[in-house]
Amino acid sequence: MSWSITLTVNGEPRRVELDDPRVTLLDLLRERLDLTGSKKGCDRGQCGACTVLLDGRRVNSCLALAISHDGAEVVTIEGLARDGALHPVQAAFIEHDAFQCGYCTPGQIMSAVGLIGEGQAGDDPERVREGMSGNLCRCAAYKGITEAVLEAQR
Ligand code: FES
Repeated sequence: MSWSITLTVNGEPRRVELDDPRVTLLDLLRERLDLTGSKKGCDRGQCGACTVLLDGRRVNSCLALAISHDGAEVVTIEGLARDGALHPVQAAFIEHDAFQCGYCTPGQIMSAVGLIGEGQAGDDPERVREGMSGNLCRCAAYKGITEAVLEAQR
């Protein structure tokens, strides 16, 4: 048995056949669509490395069953830069040295884009830290991450 779903991924319609209804959105993106920017850290909703926008809301894609989101719009880190120009959040991460090893960075950036889009970032560092608390950074680049989010939402 197989299931067919269609997602709009980074503005492009993508039809995917699933032979297992338990395929997560993260695995679909990485293994079926070769969009490997979204990272698999914990695979259990604890680290945020897999964060993408799903219908405009940030989600841990490792916890989302792909089959449950037929027809949804997905934006991944690959979809942010347009026409050779970085997204303002990407530019702010570079400006503020908001990463070290970089493994968590795609998830951090997608979470920041979602947070700003929700109007939840504000100009208070503590509020930004709380809003970004679902995204862990083992290099502890939190100071730069907070500064980057504050700058990007201005
Ligand atoms: Fe999804 Fe860690 S890989 S939250």
